[in-house]
Amino acid sequence: MRILLLGKDGQVGSELQRTLAPLGELVAWDIGELNLSQAKLIGEAVRSVQPDIIINPAAYTAVDRAESEPDLARAVNAEAPGVLAEEAQRLGAVLIHFSTDYVFDGAKGAPYTEDDVPNPINTYGHTKLEGEKVVQQVGGPHLILRTSWVYSMRFDSFPTKVLRWARKQQVIRIVEDQVSCPTWSRMLAEITALLLAKAGTDVVTWLGERSGVYHLAGEGSASRLEWAKAVLRFDPRREEQIVEEVHPARSEDFPTPARRPECSALKCDRFRRVFGLGLPTWEESLRLAVEEEL
Ligand SMILES: NC(=O)c1ccc[n+]([C@@H]2O[C@H](COP(=O)([O-])OP(=O)(O)OC[C@H]3O[C@@H](n4cnc5c(N)ncnc54)[C@H](OP(=O)(O)O)[C@@H]3O)[C@@H](O)[C@H]2O)c1
Repeated sequence: MRILLLGKDGQVGSELQRTLAPLGELVAWDIGELNLSQAKLIGEAVRSVQPDIIINPAAYTAVDRAESEPDLARAVNAEAPGVLAEEAQRLGAVLIHFSTDYVFDGAKGAPYTEDDVPNPINTYGHTKLEGEKVVQQVGGPHLILRTSWVYSMRFDSFPTKVLRWARKQQVIRIVEDQVSCPTWSRMLAEITALLLAKAGTDVVTWLGERSGVYHLAGEGSASRLEWAKAVLRFDPRREEQIVEEVHPARSEDFPTPARRPECSALKCDRFRRVFGLGLPTWEESLRLAVEEEL
């Protein structure tokens, strides 16, 4: 089985490099090997690998910057997945493509299922939704895995920022009007590899028969404030924290170029039902992540 992984240096991609390695011959690229904003380069590059599986966690993920660079965000998040889907179909391969909770507007007030109608409220969300649609339109074997609030303890992510603030400031303020599902990049990479192992030898047919959109994120949901408090609670070096007060704030207290949905939590029942696999609760993953990585 030959696997082509794109975005190998990102939060999810760097973990996938490890979890996919035992499953077959892995070719792992990032922007240095193939710039996904240049659609015309993609086809030939993919054909040179002849993969059975293409896994694409590569994306333009700078949510605020996307507001001023919509063309670049669109090239990477919408056009590139379309070309990858076409090449996968031509080669008889399956495409596993990652997407986001930010395809939703957050107004539902409850976790979203795959049947809810997306309505993005920022450029990043629009481009990711366009990417989903184009993969579906091509119609080859594909899984679109929508995840949310991805973090890695080895990157500048929300938990690592919270720990840094807590060691420098006595008071920190965190928004409480944004709710979603914190998702550890390592768990996401583990479950992706488990899914491929479970698919068996005819992975393209098995996954192809189950093509579609799936929600896959840490079980349960939290506000950013609850997430931050859990990070501080699980911190194995709590004695280094000088923070005394963690105050709730509103999104409008920290104006950003891109709007964020209020509640974009994802309900992941479909993935569990179809594949018999699921991610642990966001708190359990966070506990393992914080303890292991520090
Ligand atoms: N992070 C989140 O909170 C979050 C939430 C929901 C969904 N997701 C989705 O989950 C997936 C993985 O996210 P992540 O957090 O692992 O993202 P990430 O850490 O930003 O990784 C994305 C990778 O893609 C690479 N990339 C960017 N532009 C590229 C280009 N033009 N050509 C080739 N590679 C390019 C990035 O390289 P550079 O670092 O050099 O740009 C990076 O290595 C993405 O589909 C994302 O939309 C993420």
